[in-house]
Amino acid sequence: MTILFYSEADSAEPWREAFARELPHIAFRVWPDAGPLESVRYALVWNPPRGLLARLPNLKAILALGAGVDPIPTDPTLPKGVPLLRLVDVGFPAQMAEYAIYAVLKFQRRMGELDDLQRRAQWNQLDPFFARDFPVGVMGLGVIGKVVAQRLSAVGYAVAGWARGPKTIENVEVYSARGRLKDFLARSRVVVNALPLTPQTENILDAAAFATMPRGGYVVNIGRGAHLVDRDLIDALDSGQLAGAMLDVFREEPLPSTHPFWRHPKIVVTPHIAAPTIASEVQAQVIDNIRRLERGEPPVGLVDPSRGY
Ligand code: GLV
Repeated sequence: MTILFYSEADSAEPWREAFARELPHIAFRVWPDAGPLESVRYALVWNPPRGLLARLPNLKAILALGAGVDPIPTDPTLPKGVPLLRLVDVGFPAQMAEYAIYAVLKFQRRMGELDDLQRRAQWNQLDPFFARDFPVGVMGLGVIGKVVAQRLSAVGYAVAGWARGPKTIENVEVYSARGRLKDFLARSRVVVNALPLTPQTENILDAAAFATMPRGGYVVNIGRGAHLVDRDLIDALDSGQLAGAMLDVFREEPLPSTHPFWRHPKIVVTPHIAAPTIASEVQAQVIDNIRRLERGEPPVGLVDPSRGY
């Protein structure tokens, strides 16, 4: 029995050690050194190339090395009926909330503008915006978005969330269903995107969304690069409709050095670090899930194929 590892973003070595220690009866192999493909029972993967999973005839489960599982569900060759698991919690929500709080405070307290003034040695006492005039909207109220929304609300912002279905979260005004998206955007000075990437949410942050937001709004993207239409963001910033953006995820990662986001004066770029993997927590969840699967018990983080997350 083999577990096959594939990731260009994570090192295999800590996993090799964890499996040797915790599940010594399962052989750990790193693609392309997979050994006989019929022996692979589990695939532990981040961003696997299309068609890779379809080559494993005895696959019992796909364990994604992420909270987001895209692009796996949209791979047309994905073996049907094989459970796909994502990482749930493992420290991600709190870290995402820290990133979002930092971004919103930075915009509300005008820290980017103050950085520029310091660089020019200019003493200019810019008034901050009032937190109460800075309504924040969180897109996606899943395991991550919920914590992001709650913690932003605890800082003192008027927080709303937008989700597919109805939810109740204390101190967070919930707009549910596609039809409420406009109202949600219209009231949100800052939009923080924590959605999963699905065909329904791709390109959701586009020119129409920015035009619906109040003039001088801000966008924080901690979801996926493909939620955002890059050109529309630049146009909205250049026209003054948006005042700034802080982006952690991109259509192409690493973000190519020639991409205009790197040098845009109103964009802060970070290299997909909002919620780094805490190896010990992630490993414990993956190993526990394999043990559950081996015992025939329900695993944690099962993706609903009809929703894609
Ligand atoms: C990271 O982006 C993840 O999905 O875990």
